[in-house]
Amino acid sequence: MNGNLQLQHFILNEQKKFPYAKGDFTLLILDIALAGKIISSEVNKAGLIEILGLTGKENIQGEQVQKLDEFSNSTLVNILSRNETVGGCASEEMADAVLFEKHTKAKYCVIFDPLDGSSNIDVNVSIGTIFSIYKLSNEGECSEKDFLKKGEEQVAAGYIIYGSSTMLVLTTGEGVHGFTLDPSLGEFLLSHPDIKYPEPPKRYYSVNEGNFKYWDKNVKKYVDHLKNNEKPFSLRYIGSLVSDFHRNLIYGGIFFYPLDYKNPEKPKGKLRLMYEANPLALISKNAGGLASDGKNDILSLKPEELHQRVPLYIGAKSFVEEALAFLNSEEK
Ligand code: AHG
Ligand code: MN
Ligand code: MN
Repeated sequence: MNGNLQLQHFILNEQKKFPYAKGDFTLLILDIALAGKIISSEVNKAGLIEILGLTGKENIQGEQVQKLDEFSNSTLVNILSRNETVGGCASEEMADAVLFEKHTKAKYCVIFDPLDGSSNIDVNVSIGTIFSIYKLSNEGECSEKDFLKKGEEQVAAGYIIYGSSTMLVLTTGEGVHGFTLDPSLGEFLLSHPDIKYPEPPKRYYSVNEGNFKYWDKNVKKYVDHLKNNEKPFSLRYIGSLVSDFHRNLIYGGIFFYPLDYKNPEKPKGKLRLMYEANPLALISKNAGGLASDGKNDILSLKPEELHQRVPLYIGAKSFVEEALAFLNSEEK
């Protein structure tokens, strides 16, 4: 076996740096990693088993639920429901949080997007799981309030990307670390210690330009700037947030999903604050990047409801700051 450190050894070795990596926190991370291994195995044989396609059901977002969405969600809920340190969990695929009342010594709750990039499942494009971990306000008494904390209160966040390899990217307060699954061992091995956005970052931008006509004028000016400057950017858009985010983290770049005025009376963002924007914003910040809703730091937003949506600008700090300058310019 090569010399890479296994996930459990890395966390235990780094115990002093991970304020929450006491035994039970380490086991929680390992449970999420186990769910990732199970989901990865299904994703990697999708097409051979009856797991592609739609369930015929709609989720709370009014979106079609894919079989793999449902499988990923139930895998995470089942595994977390057996971990007594978890007081409850919430998911893109469930209207309300699930509380594990019997876990009277619980210390954490977990919020997740069980499968991000669902529209790409049936066409074999990378997808992922995104998760966020908070400490309960009162140990052993998990309540709905625990699922509406600001992103800056996360004790850990990460994602598992099911791509050319399966990789767990994790931050628990200090640094961002990548662990690649060795399927022959069934172990996540440290492959990307201390990930930071590269300096200078590659000039990639990731946005669905098909929505151009629904954006406000400053966003249009920003995108025109990206394409008409002395060093043009390259457009890379996969349509799985976790994959677009990961490429920009490793190479550099900016991902954005602007406020869109499809409904002029009620402009809104598409991405969800609690299980897409917040966890990725913590990773981005701890890798030297920045995440904003176009005005405020994502991590500072006080959530009103579990499935609320936000505009999202996330990636290399200098690129996000340039975007914000365009977005907030008063020029008429
Ligand atoms: P999910 O599959 O969890 O619903 O998330 C899909 C999101 C995100 O992954 C991606 O960036 C975005 O939807 C793509 O939206 P468009 O297809 O509108 O570009
Ligand atoms: Mn998603
Ligand atoms: Mn999803």
